[in-house]
Amino acid sequence: MERIVILDFGAQYNQLIARRVREQGVFSELLPPMSSIDRIRGEGLSGIILSGSPDSVYAEDGRRCLPEIFELGVPVLGICYGMQLMTHMLGGKVEQAPVREYAGVKAHFEQSPLFSDMPDSTVWMSHNDMVTKAPDGFHVIASTDECPIAAIENTSKRLFAVQFHPEVAHTEYCAQFFKNFTRNICGCTGSWSPENLIDGIINDIRAQVGGRKVVAGLSGGVDSSVAAALVSKAVGDKLTCIFVDHGLLRKNEAEEVMHFYRENMRLNVIEVDAREYFLSQLAGVTEPEKKRKIIGESFVRVFEREAKKIGGAELLLQGTIYPDVIESGSGGASVIKSHHNVGGLPEKFGFELLEPLRPFFKDEVRAIGEALGMPKELVWRQPFPGPGLGIRILGDITEEKLNILRDSDWILRDEIKKAGMDREIWQYFTVFTGMRSVGVMGDSRTYDYAIGVRAVVSTDAMTVEFAEIPHKLLRKISNRIIAEVPHVNRVVYDITDKPPGTIEWE
Ligand code: XMP
Repeated sequence: MERIVILDFGAQYNQLIARRVREQGVFSELLPPMSSIDRIRGEGLSGIILSGSPDSVYAEDGRRCLPEIFELGVPVLGICYGMQLMTHMLGGKVEQAPVREYAGVKAHFEQSPLFSDMPDSTVWMSHNDMVTKAPDGFHVIASTDECPIAAIENTSKRLFAVQFHPEVAHTEYCAQFFKNFTRNICGCTGSWSPENLIDGIINDIRAQVGGRKVVAGLSGGVDSSVAAALVSKAVGDKLTCIFVDHGLLRKNEAEEVMHFYRENMRLNVIEVDAREYFLSQLAGVTEPEKKRKIIGESFVRVFEREAKKIGGAELLLQGTIYPDVIESGSGGASVIKSHHNVGGLPEKFGFELLEPLRPFFKDEVRAIGEALGMPKELVWRQPFPGPGLGIRILGDITEEKLNILRDSDWILRDEIKKAGMDREIWQYFTVFTGMRSVGVMGDSRTYDYAIGVRAVVSTDAMTVEFAEIPHKLLRKISNRIIAEVPHVNRVVYDITDKPPGTIEWE
């Protein structure tokens, strides 16, 4: 296997670097910066990338890596902070930049294997510090008006570094850059693809499970469904699936999902009605991270009870995917939210985890699902978070608020589907904002709730843009929600991209 390791110094968009490498057909993984050399070397190491960071190389607590990585004989590429760190560790000079750059700027490239087939063009700059003297043995290979040392190389040692962010789509030759690094410099063949890995994943599942029983939490979403399909292929009836109705599902969801699993996927699924249990655990809780922890723990307790009933299952299958792991703080980046199936897990529970999709992004999971022949309606279902409507209600969760949310969400989904926009929009749902305001309906004053509509386009949920739903359709959605859902007198449309927002409101 060809593998590129990205040492994650904590920039929020380091996942994008991993994606860009994978788009070139090379497996990539993010590791904490001080990972051991053995861990970094692992199997098939073809190259190392040092990521960006909010740190400064001069700060005492600025993150570092082991100097041995420059001696491993594989190419190393520093990006932004990665360039500054490489420079600092190898004897060059880094200083505060006279102007803080945060923009797309024109770069001039010199002859270098890193810039093959890249004419002078726009690159994305976002930095406070910059290299003012390259280490001995390095040449300057790119410059911009404000940044005379915008990239450096030492070809004999196979060390390269760029001050700009090639992973961001605003860098015009973004894909070509990663092709140059992975193919020309690291010599990878680019034969990796998630579909090619299916046999290997199934073998790994068999090896981990042995003769033991597995329970799977199914949510109706693509991740847990693809995970269950893989395990079912690997170990057949040792797998029992559990669909938990936690009372935070959308309208008609439990019926639809159960029908789907039984009829179309022929999985052995038990439905557990845990509505009262979850809602009583959540009563009065308003803090979003606390809600997530309670939901994560309640799931595990339900699975433990059910595992006993089927004669003791030792493994719990989860549809955890790579962004869940990263956003929950397992790399170098800060914790954004505790995804219920990663950071939301209690400290102690009676299972060994089985997480075959942990290294994959959502579109890769979908590709695996399609290659397994799973129904398209399931593979392309819009993502629905494990904690469900629990993370779409601001403030405490009550049955009344849940009903308002379910009814408004159902109307939105109905209208988006009728307009044929359900495939082009990544996610669309309503939010219970908790705000009340004065309105007028039928000549009378109202003092009712505002419902938020959220709809975003994306390819991987890491960065999103709000969906440009036609105003006419927005008006129809708003009119229907106010007319058909009691206690709602206002509908607002969220026009925030991610970043700076997130997809969910919580
Ligand atoms: P955010 O709100 O972080 O969401 O922009 C990114 C994507 O992740 C989904 N999401 C979750 N999915 N368990 C899940 O299975 C979770 O705890 C969770 N939290 C957010 C969200 O719906 C979006 O697709």
